[in-house]
Amino acid sequence: MPDLSKMVRESEIRRNEQGEVSSVNVWPRKVQIVEVGPRDGLQNEAEVVPTDVKVAWIDRLSEAGLQRIEVTSFVNPRWIPALADADEVMRRIRRADGIQYSALVPNVKGLERAVAVGVNAVAVFMSASETHNRKNINKSIAETYPVLEETVREAKAAGCFVRGYVSTAFGCPFEGAVPVARVREVALHLLEMGIDELSVGDTIGVATPADVHRVVDVLLKDMPVRRLALHFHDTYGMAIANICAALEHGVQIYDASLGGLGGCPYAPGATGNVATEDVLYLMRGCGIETGVSIEAAVEAAGFIEDHLGRPLPAHNLRARRGACTTT
Ligand code: HMG
Ligand code: MG
Repeated sequence: MPDLSKMVRESEIRRNEQGEVSSVNVWPRKVQIVEVGPRDGLQNEAEVVPTDVKVAWIDRLSEAGLQRIEVTSFVNPRWIPALADADEVMRRIRRADGIQYSALVPNVKGLERAVAVGVNAVAVFMSASETHNRKNINKSIAETYPVLEETVREAKAAGCFVRGYVSTAFGCPFEGAVPVARVREVALHLLEMGIDELSVGDTIGVATPADVHRVVDVLLKDMPVRRLALHFHDTYGMAIANICAALEHGVQIYDASLGGLGGCPYAPGATGNVATEDVLYLMRGCGIETGVSIEAAVEAAGFIEDHLGRPLPAHNLRARRGACTTT
């Protein structure tokens, strides 16, 4: 658990009639949402979304008040054809002041492409499980470290904010359970490289709150909570429960995808990310500030839903586009 004495006000401590502490609410008052729909969402779509639509959608995300948007990936386009237009998308989006527009980069080649089109926030990525790492980026974990080390070094030298993802942190589609010690090992390597933020990914959406407590407990022994992000996919419907578990540790950064789009083409069975509008509903209900209105988010999710021509799974999108619009 984070150091409570630094985080808790007297008003957040609940006492019983004898004045003894009965429980403590350390949930943060404010969280950041990292909108990964344009990258994690669209990378997994069977249909390649036209560049014009992507650009119009991302501009709407800026207007909706999202402050951090993961726009695309500068990976090998043969591996992710859906994002082969990364350079053009980055060049054409309207970049509003104060919004972070980031992109995935697997190596220095990807970084150079990103920087060439004005990107100043990048994310490197690798997995905690050997098989997924190899299937996703064609290298063993040991071979990946020097590649990412060089990428992070060059990215920092170019003045970029750098996020590091640990994927398959809660389970691997090929190996099953992933030991927490493996997650810690990969996380520590990334932190030592000098990343600014660590995003821990439940790539295939299998975690439960008990897993979240276990993993977050271990990670927070070695890093400050303000640098930890969590990235939940919702395959088994546990993502919102998992976020609640992470809030108890004071985690303040959550990745989410409008409409609940998402998945990894190299992780069979992975479904969408937790939906941004559902995370916003949770936060609003719990009195936690996000800076984003659900109405604006639903409108932006509706735009891409209309384009894709099929209903997206987000609960708030379904409820608000249907009859149930009382909140
Ligand atoms: P490789 O084939 O081993 O690469 O792929 P290589 O270094 O041997 O080079 C082979 C060719 O790729 C060369 O071209 C390079 O120039 C080119 P050729 O000489 O044959 O014409 N190449 C590139 N081209 C453009 N941009 C680049 C680039 N790098 C090399 N950056 C590589 C290795 C990592 C590049 C490849 O495996 C790849 O692109 N993988 C990406 C997979 C991916 O994007 N997966 C989804 C994202 S991860 C995810 O979704 C999980 C996450 O959401 C968190 C979670 O859910 O847990 C983040
Ligand atoms: Mg993902």
